Amino acid sequence: MRLKSNLRRALITLVVLGVGVQFVPYGRNHAAPPVLGEPTWDSARTRELARRACFDCHSSETRWPWYTHVAPVSWLVQHDVDEGRAVLDFTAWTRPSEEASESAESVLEGEMPPRPYLWLHPSARLDAADQDALVQGLTRTFGSEATGRDGEGDGEGDGEDEQDG
Ligand code: HEC
Repeated sequence: MRLKSNLRRALITLVVLGVGVQFVPYGRNHAAPPVLGEPTWDSARTRELARRACFDCHSSETRWPWYTHVAPVSWLVQHDVDEGRAVLDFTAWTRPSEEASESAESVLEGEMPPRPYLWLHPSARLDAADQDALVQGLTRTFGSEATGRDGEGDGEGDGEDEQDG
């Protein structure tokens, strides 16, 4: 029964690996960084929609469902959250983000929230009306790269980072 014992060995190896990777420290620290301040949202509705669809990666109010504690999924999620907070953090508004003015566009183009995230987070899916409201609200709050409109929450001068592409 050569095949059977090989299969068994493979399964045991998988289980050992699967347990072993849980001990990698990366992706396990889910302590929330302090909330330092939020932008001046144009309305409570915009904030609520952003909280639903964006805050998991762009704030310190990340929700961590059980599978985000299980490697290797935890590594992917940690990476997204770290990178998301680095470019745009709605709860660390002491350092306004240059990317904020791309928010409306990113939603309009279906780039944000990222598709794979939506598969796992049905509550973050926005219907057409909600999506529209969020785009409008983000434009009013942060301005828009696409229209050159300047929002109130984003103190950066416009025209500084024109897109050349
Ligand atoms: C699953 C995590 C996740 C969610 C949820 C998410 N983002 Fe992001 N976002 C990222 C990551 C990671 C980056 C940086 C890398 C990239 O651009 O893909 C990013 C980048 C951005 C940028 C910078 C410009 C760009 O496109 O690179 C903007 C603006 C942005 N996100 C807005 C939003 C808005 C608005 C929402 C909610 C509607 C949202 N994001 C939801 C992970 C996320």
